[in-house]
Amino acid sequence: MSHYFESGSGDGPPRTVEFTIGDRSFTLTSAGGVFSADRLDPGTAVLLRKAPLPAPDETRPLLDLGCGYGPIACVLATTARQAPVWAVEVNDRARALAVANAAALGVADRVRVVAPEQVPEQLRFGQIWSNPPVRVGKPALHAMLLRWLPRLAAGGVAWLVVARHLGGDSLQQWLAGQGWPAQRYASQKGYRVLRVTR
Ligand SMILES: C[S@@+](CC[C@H](N)C(=O)[O-])C[C@H]1O[C@@H](n2cnc3c(N)ncnc32)[C@H](O)[C@@H]1O
Repeated sequence: MSHYFESGSGDGPPRTVEFTIGDRSFTLTSAGGVFSADRLDPGTAVLLRKAPLPAPDETRPLLDLGCGYGPIACVLATTARQAPVWAVEVNDRARALAVANAAALGVADRVRVVAPEQVPEQLRFGQIWSNPPVRVGKPALHAMLLRWLPRLAAGGVAWLVVARHLGGDSLQQWLAGQGWPAQRYASQKGYRVLRVTR
């Protein structure tokens, strides 16, 4: 059996995911084989509604870590209309959907949907946004965070959402122990929004 977080082509007809963030409505395309294909994931919804979206004049690169079909990247790119948005994802099917969703919103020129190893080494991000893949297990999750958090620019901030019952609070403590101060910025519907700074 394959999982959404594995690389693979996935199957199934396209599906539509509709959601609203602030006063803006989004209609994105998803498909079977990607994370939360039928609706905006409730954790992602809490993240996008509770954390402060980037300023419209933000120009620093932004990272959506584990972009899935691209809901976070699409919200970021249509909010910060001058910022390059890097959408990183291991699942091929999800990447194809994120590319299509960015194109449909007219932001494909600024949204780079890539596999992790395709991000240029020297690139630093003003903000990292992620609903991280906790189900890959702690060692893989921790390795992923320790790979990308050091790529925050000076003064940068990472916004993470994790369900409390999937270890949101222990992740906060682990981050602090690794030298990444993490504040519980918001809490809603059993999800923790963590603000991580350099
Ligand atoms: C919890 S889902 C969130 C997806 C999307 N951001 C959303 O909000 O619907 C986490 C995503 O991370 C991806 N992922 C898993 N391991 C990864 C890795 N090492 N690097 C990048 N993405 C990864 C999974 O395939 C999955 O799409």
